[in-house]
Amino acid sequence: MTSTESSTESIIGRSDINDLEAILSISNKDVHETIHTVEDNADSIFTWNYEKGERPALNKLYEKAKTSQWNGETDLPWHIDVDQEAVVVANQAANNRGADLDVSGTCFEKWGDKEWVQLGIEAQNWTLSQFMHGEQGALICTAKIVETVPWIDAKYYAATQVMDEARHVEVFAKYLQDKLSGFYPVNAHLEMLLDDIVADSRWDMTYLGMQIMVEGLALAAFGFMHQMTTEPLLKQLLRYVMSDEARHVAFGVLSLKEYYADLTQAELRERQEFAFEAAVRMRDRFLQQEVWERMGVPVKEAVQVVMHDPGQLLFQQMLFAKIVPNCKKLGLLDAGDGWLRTKFTELGVIDFEHMPDTEEEYETFALAEGEVASA
Ligand SMILES: [Fe+2]
Ligand SMILES: [Fe+2]
Repeated sequence: MTSTESSTESIIGRSDINDLEAILSISNKDVHETIHTVEDNADSIFTWNYEKGERPALNKLYEKAKTSQWNGETDLPWHIDVDQEAVVVANQAANNRGADLDVSGTCFEKWGDKEWVQLGIEAQNWTLSQFMHGEQGALICTAKIVETVPWIDAKYYAATQVMDEARHVEVFAKYLQDKLSGFYPVNAHLEMLLDDIVADSRWDMTYLGMQIMVEGLALAAFGFMHQMTTEPLLKQLLRYVMSDEARHVAFGVLSLKEYYADLTQAELRERQEFAFEAAVRMRDRFLQQEVWERMGVPVKEAVQVVMHDPGQLLFQQMLFAKIVPNCKKLGLLDAGDGWLRTKFTELGVIDFEHMPDTEEEYETFALAEGEVASA
């Protein structure tokens, strides 16, 4: 190992990526704070080169973004009444989730329908709350990219993404407020990741952390939830958000592909390590420790039981379906000695490397003519 390379422990704070005690020891210490401050450590960059379209792919994305705007207040069917309990029951029935889970001898042994439905409700409140917090992270990161990226085509595109992210925060917050039954504070693993992304002084790290990792995961997770939910308002909300997210991930791939072509091996290794750190933080957050606390079951035991649910395992892996092919496209999987390939293999997600990358497929997510009500 050379001096520029770090150990797993120095990257994620533990030597065993699956050390459950260490993962669960990280929790949100101030759930009542309303303002959270992070130094963003970056220079604001002006460019005097206004040559629009110098980067044709970014310019094309910018033009698409301009005509793909939708209105979170008027384009979604907010009049639909959501009976959250009925939706949870319908979703559980439709998806057969947990059917193969053996809970005998565990903290869930005495649970009946009432507790399982309550778990579904809490899990939904938690999941959408974390999406909302992540969307605010995207809003802040993209505003930062407007300031820090040196290319005019990228500044233009990022400006449209700022608007997109404002809308995403808005619609998730509104859905939680009007249709569900409670907010959760930001999960500590997600917060650590967002803080690290915002604090990094290098403009490309904002893209890697947000556009490639966080938004790559979001695109996969939204797709999964869009497929699973039986609730029509949420389905449409997710459909609209995904049409934007696919562009955002493509923005990351297009920008970093150019930038990474000129980096040294040592610099690429730092990007590999950052991608790995982000992957672990995101996986850790999906253990949803705050939900188990609220349900009053021992957190560690609950996590261990649920980790044996084949549906849950599949979901955890599927979250990486976009991240892995995009990292491959950027050359990050195999740069140097293929360090990131080894790490993604340890995480059990390397098989996604053959899936389509988002530069290739983003247009398939676009809303069809007439799908945007106010356009
Ligand atoms: Fe978003
Ligand atoms: Fe986004």
